[in-house]
Amino acid sequence: MPVPRLSRCLWRPMRFCLSLLARVQAANWTLGLYHGVGRNPPAPRSSDTKRARDSREPNRSQICRSDVYLLFAFMNELNIENLHIAVNGQEIVRGLTLRVPRGEVHALMGPNGSGKSTLAKVLAGHPDYQVTAGRVLMDGENLLELEPDERARRGLFLAFQYPSEIPGVTIANFLRAALQSRVPEGEELEATDYYAKLYEKMELLGMDRSFTSRAVNEGFSGGEKKRAEILQLAMLEPKYAVLDETDSGLDIDALKTVAHGVNSLRGPDLGILLITHYQRLLNYIVPDYVHVMVGGRIVRSGRKELALELEERGYDWAREGAVEPAFR
Ligand SMILES: Nc1ncnc2c1ncn2[C@@H]1O[C@H](COP(=O)(O)OP(=O)(O)OP(=O)(O)O)[C@@H](O)[C@H]1O
Ligand SMILES: [Mg+2]
Repeated sequence: MPVPRLSRCLWRPMRFCLSLLARVQAANWTLGLYHGVGRNPPAPRSSDTKRARDSREPNRSQICRSDVYLLFAFMNELNIENLHIAVNGQEIVRGLTLRVPRGEVHALMGPNGSGKSTLAKVLAGHPDYQVTAGRVLMDGENLLELEPDERARRGLFLAFQYPSEIPGVTIANFLRAALQSRVPEGEELEATDYYAKLYEKMELLGMDRSFTSRAVNEGFSGGEKKRAEILQLAMLEPKYAVLDETDSGLDIDALKTVAHGVNSLRGPDLGILLITHYQRLLNYIVPDYVHVMVGGRIVRSGRKELALELEERGYDWAREGAVEPAFR
């Protein structure tokens, strides 16, 4: 029987969708990811628990939806699984699991010495720290196998808690070299475009243009260093940004300016891990999720209200009754 014209038109896209689903299904089973992949879930409400009990068996439409969701979740997140980090034989991070999808801001809080900066440095590829177990995937790719510059080129950015000074290298040349390293070989960054973008971002962050000719962080005040870090973030436009105590050393006006700069970069293409001690910053950069890290593990996770509760009750409360680790 001849196939009607409309069916013939629909056959190609239908065949593509079916093969896509088949591939996702295969990937799920191969990687053992059929359940449990996706965003860090908020704590279930009692009504949710009942609903979950009533519908433990997924129906066909749920499976299809979760398959498609899995494909995108898997490809668009920074996925840290059961990470253990040691330095000089001492274990600092002890089984940390965390997912930061693109488009979300996750705040990471925790007492001094809990391992927040250690985690940030390992993500960026600091050679002094040994990953003794676990893995980190960025958009499905094993991050820990890449050199630090490769990680940056793939779209990871770290704003340091203690930014280094680079005497003799001006901010303008530093950022230009960083951007140039990302364009395909043989291509040149257009100088006029570059400076237009640089000045636009500096204005956004309330930085004077004279900073472009100053050596990176040399003689900068604490607040100026933090602005310079966010300027790098704005210029490099990464997929994932880890901001380690970007608020420390900022006066209240500078805090608002920096928060405005970060907020202007928020969007579906950027995932942010925001390390901070203070609820104050989270009034300006409102996180999607808040995680509390104690003793090298995430001990609590929740929505933005968790930061308020933490400020009221302190870290001892976070330690007590902690579910460790909070998310798997
Ligand atoms: N290179 C290193 N050599 C020895 N110990 C280290 C090193 N780096 C980190 N540590 C130790 O690991 C622990 C965690 O340090 P880290 O800087 O990650 O904490 P943090 O959570 O960022 O603290 P803070 O809130 O004060 O910034 C600390 O006890 C620190 O002394
Ligand atoms: Mg730190």
